[in-house]
Amino acid sequence: MNADPRVMEFFPGVISREESRQHFARVRARIAERGYGFWPVEVIGGPSFIGMVGLSNPSFQAPFMPAVEIGWRLLAEHWGRGYATEAARAALAFGFERLGLREIVAFTTVANARSRRVMDKLGMRRAPDDDFLHPDLPAGHPLRPHVLYRLGRADFRAAP
Ligand SMILES: CC(C)(COP(=O)(O)OP(=O)(O)OC[C@H]1O[C@@H](n2cnc3c(N)ncnc32)[C@H](O)[C@@H]1OP(=O)(O)O)[C@@H](O)C(=O)NCCC(=O)NCCS
Repeated sequence: MNADPRVMEFFPGVISREESRQHFARVRARIAERGYGFWPVEVIGGPSFIGMVGLSNPSFQAPFMPAVEIGWRLLAEHWGRGYATEAARAALAFGFERLGLREIVAFTTVANARSRRVMDKLGMRRAPDDDFLHPDLPAGHPLRPHVLYRLGRADFRAAP
């Protein structure tokens, strides 16, 4: 998944097997530590791993921080079947109902229309005033301009 240029189109680059191994070790450690993180997504009666969806605490500085973020990344052959949105609803329910969060945010680079569509379908709202330049990317990098979407607990609907 992390080595596929389609999946990583809106990230600085693909990730090697070794970097992925380290990344997933960190993901696993976060879940053990905090009780949440990027969970693996399984299709009921189908593949046991099609990607990851979940909640995390971004570590960079931005005006909207501190915040809990929802994010998603799936194997390309499983796109377009509503899996990201379905898994995200479960993650949002966990965040609002189990963790008692008041707000969950999502962000992506401006051109990532698929990811923004998932945010729209979840009822998340973009306030243009929240747009930001991702501090981990160098000045002038085409992926640097980001949009921020927010969802408050009162606006969350567990079903479509
Ligand atoms: C973003 C991602 C998780 C979406 O997964 P998914 O399971 O296909 O998402 P869903 O099927 O729930 O919804 C996708 C929506 O985007 C729409 N879509 C697909 N391609 C699109 C495009 N080029 N422009 C606009 N919308 C698009 C789909 O039609 C669908 O909307 P619909 O239900 O109204 O038809 C998946 O594309 C992915 O893993 N991308 C690479 C990783 C990534 O960019 N992650 C986000 C980083 S912030």
